[in-house]
Amino acid sequence: MKRLLSTMLAVILMLSLMGCGETRSTSTSDLKAENNLVGVAMPTQSLQRWDGDGRNMKSQLEAKGYTVDLQYANNDVNTQIQEIENMITKKCKVLVVAAIDGATLTNVIKTAKENGIKVIAYDRLIMQTSNVDYYATFDNFKVGVIQGKYIETKLGLKEGKGPFNIELFGGSPDDNNATFFFKGAMSILKPYIDKGKLVIPSKQKNFTTIAIQSWDSAKAQGRMDNLITSTYSKGTKLNVILSPNDSLAIGIVASLKNAGYGTADKPFPILTGQDCDKPNIMAIINDKQSMSVFKDTRKLATKVVEMVSSILQGEKAEVNDTKTYNNGSVIVPSYLCDPVYVEKTNYKKILVDSGYYKAAELK
Ligand code: BGC
Repeated sequence: MKRLLSTMLAVILMLSLMGCGETRSTSTSDLKAENNLVGVAMPTQSLQRWDGDGRNMKSQLEAKGYTVDLQYANNDVNTQIQEIENMITKKCKVLVVAAIDGATLTNVIKTAKENGIKVIAYDRLIMQTSNVDYYATFDNFKVGVIQGKYIETKLGLKEGKGPFNIELFGGSPDDNNATFFFKGAMSILKPYIDKGKLVIPSKQKNFTTIAIQSWDSAKAQGRMDNLITSTYSKGTKLNVILSPNDSLAIGIVASLKNAGYGTADKPFPILTGQDCDKPNIMAIINDKQSMSVFKDTRKLATKVVEMVSSILQGEKAEVNDTKTYNNGSVIVPSYLCDPVYVEKTNYKKILVDSGYYKAAELK
């Protein structure tokens, strides 16, 4: 009799734990009551875009009732690994990681998986592991295409104008995005290079030669200084510079200014960028940089918050690309947001009217 009673009790307990087959809807108050920690690991707070990404994500996740552990790693790989280890120890449920170096997180992401934690790669893909569940980013190839098309249009290349002199810059070689940006831009520019309508006087065109480690402004400035000395000191005209992002563009502008560009005789070349960081929008307003690609980080954050919610409710997250992002181990299901270009004529509409910046911030 005793044994029967205890068996019945065990069955009752098991059924109640299983929720008796009922689907359990997770309301905001439910979430608050549970451990619903989300770890958000960002590369650095020193670049405006990542600072904004982190803040947007934290506030949007908290508004949904989640607890957020947001960490920045000062662009140091070991710091980022330690931060993620801490998040795992604190038993977070989901990890959102913008990697510093996408190939360095294999072990720590494995530990996350072993602890039942879902992993979302944020903006930058985590490489060489099958333990990353989702990837949320902007269409990185398209970012490069937008930059290439901007150059094509401004120079009138489609109309047969040219030849023009161009120099190329690439992003950090440890960031998977950097080659996507470059390939996207080259898909537009290479035919003109092949036809001789775009000429690279320095002859530096391989990704490894033109890449700037850690997206560092000072390193970009240094490479531009060297190019000016080696190739442009004797009056050769520089018409255009492909810069993959704004942190490089800032360094390039500083170098050009030091070398006396920005006068009627020696105007600033056409210069691309990406991120719409404040100093760069001001450089666009002041005709030092020509354009930037806007990636509305509010939208990316909203998408990732939706992914987190779906995951925590035991559902699959929405994706719109299951082909592009092979991380060397698996193709990671991805959601790609749409980037748009910004220049002097449309920055008010896209950045100020949308509330991304206040007009006063750009003075
Ligand atoms: C991001 C860019 C950013 C760059 C440097 C890339 O992974 O996609 O938006 O400019 O990193 O931080």
